[in-house]
Amino acid sequence: MKSVVRAFPPTSIVNSDEFRGAMRHLAGGVSVITGGRGRDISGMTVTSVTSLTIAPPTLIVAINRAASTLPLLRRYGAFGVSILAGDQREVAERFTGKGSHAGAKRFVGSSWKAGPAGVPLLEGALAAIGCEVEEIIERHSHAIVLGSAVSIAASEAPSALAYWSGRYVAVERNASHDEDARLPTHRALWD
Ligand SMILES: Cc1cc2nc3c(=O)[nH]c(=O)nc-3n(C[C@H](O)[C@H](O)[C@H](O)COP(=O)(O)O)c2cc1C
Repeated sequence: MKSVVRAFPPTSIVNSDEFRGAMRHLAGGVSVITGGRGRDISGMTVTSVTSLTIAPPTLIVAINRAASTLPLLRRYGAFGVSILAGDQREVAERFTGKGSHAGAKRFVGSSWKAGPAGVPLLEGALAAIGCEVEEIIERHSHAIVLGSAVSIAASEAPSALAYWSGRYVAVERNASHDEDARLPTHRALWD
C-alpha cells in the first residue's frame, strides 16, 4: 500500500547548504557497504545505514545513484555491511574513494573474508552483516536500499567509529563502570 502524505516536490524548501549544515550535527555510525564477488568488487563508506525492522531483520541504506557500488548490488542481489570499529578510520577514508582507489584496490591494506553470495566482509569490524537486496527505491539523487540480513558476525572491539561535525570520532566503552553507568566517552581523531 502506498500512502502519500503530500505530493512532492514541495512548493517551498530550505536551502541545501543550510540543510547540510544542520545535518552535520547528526552523529552517525560509520560503515562500509560492499558489493560483488571475486575481483568484481567495490565498496563505499556510509553513515546512512540504520535498521528498519528487527523482525524480520531488515536494514536500509541510502546510496548515491552515481556510486560505483550500486550496480554491484543490482547485479548480484547482495551486499555487506561492515560496521567500523574506532581504530578503522583508515578503512573509512579508503572507501570514500580518497587517493583515487577504486574497485578491488580499495580493499588493499585491510583483511576481508567472503560472506553470503561472496560479498566481502571486514575482519575486525564491530559487526559484519551479510544482506540480500530486498528492494531498491530510487528517490532524488539516491537509492534507498532495503536489505534482509542473512548472516551476522560480531566482535568485541572496544570502540565504534562515528562521524560528527565533519570529523571521525572514536566512541569508546568505559569498561571500568558498571552496566548502568556505562556511558560512552569520545575521542576526536583529527590529525
Ligand atoms: C563519513 C562519510 C559518510 C558517507 N555516507 C554516505 C552515504 O550514506 N551514502 C552515500 O551515497 N555516500 C556516502 N558517502 C560518500 C561515499 O563514501 C563516496 O561518495 C563513495 O565512496 C564514492 O564511491 P565511488 O567513487 O565508488 O563512486 C559518505 C562519505 C563519508 C566521508
